[in-house]
Amino acid sequence: MNCAQMIKDIRCRLGLSQMELAGLLQVSFATVNRWENGRSKPAPAAMQKLRELCRSCNLQILEDQGLYHVIAIKEDTAYFEREEERISKKKALELFDTGMIDAFETGTFKGLAQIHGYLFSEIYDFAGKMRSVNIAKGNFRFAPVLYLKPALDHIEKMPQDTFDHIIEKYVEMNVAHPFREGNGRSMRIWLDAILKKELGQVIDWSKVDKEDYLLAMQRSPVKDIEIKALLKPALTDRIHDREVYMKGIDASYRYEGYNVYKTEELKE
Ligand SMILES: Nc1ncnc2c1ncn2[C@@H]1O[C@H](COP(=O)(O)OP(=O)(O)O)[C@@H](O)[C@H]1O
Ligand SMILES: [Mg+2]
Repeated sequence: MNCAQMIKDIRCRLGLSQMELAGLLQVSFATVNRWENGRSKPAPAAMQKLRELCRSCNLQILEDQGLYHVIAIKEDTAYFEREEERISKKKALELFDTGMIDAFETGTFKGLAQIHGYLFSEIYDFAGKMRSVNIAKGNFRFAPVLYLKPALDHIEKMPQDTFDHIIEKYVEMNVAHPFREGNGRSMRIWLDAILKKELGQVIDWSKVDKEDYLLAMQRSPVKDIEIKALLKPALTDRIHDREVYMKGIDASYRYEGYNVYKTEELKE
């Protein structure tokens, strides 16, 4: 919906008159009226107030290239997160057991999107799709949407013949962060697929400490020496070992705060 529709939608969901909404946002009645007629749009400060009002009423405004969605925030986020973990971990195991992971492209965005799509298709409506919003973590802004496609084209052309080259590629893909969520988890599977194909090795993630990993990744856009030094000793040639894979998935999820289920317990 457009901005005017979004404001009216929120106002109606909250059961407010234009006058009442104006009062809550500390703007005039005429202003709200103009927004809803599409004759003007809220200034950033008013937009901020609107978002805060929404949040206090369990609504969230999602914005995507000038279009809006208003969604109800799930009250039981903990439940949602547990389900996300359970379902996508099961999918991760399927990727391994069916050999599908070896059929995907390695080292391309398409291959990564295949992994992401497979893991999260039942969870996110954007599974496997390039994001159209800008995102950041901590102080770091990932590639702006405007440069995302060119960045991915560039990354695909990066060499993947040595360990160092592969990690450099992984670091660039992390800087691109092509999805709204689930980058870390899908990208580590993507990285292992490259290492497996090119070097006959994978990372035993159960040997990589969470805090060390996250710190090294934070540093990686500036200096990749730490992540290289951290991952290299964790390489193993047990590439067909289901145990190594499952423990790796559990570690990878643990880095992102998902720590309820063990992959091993999720087989059908
Ligand atoms: N400050 C940062 N700078 C660069 N990369 C980061 C930073 N913080 C986290 N990351 C990377 O982002 C990943 C998490 O991305 P995210 O999309 O949330 O994936 P997931 O949903 O699987 O957790 C982490 O595993 C890490 O590799
Ligand atoms: Mg995340």
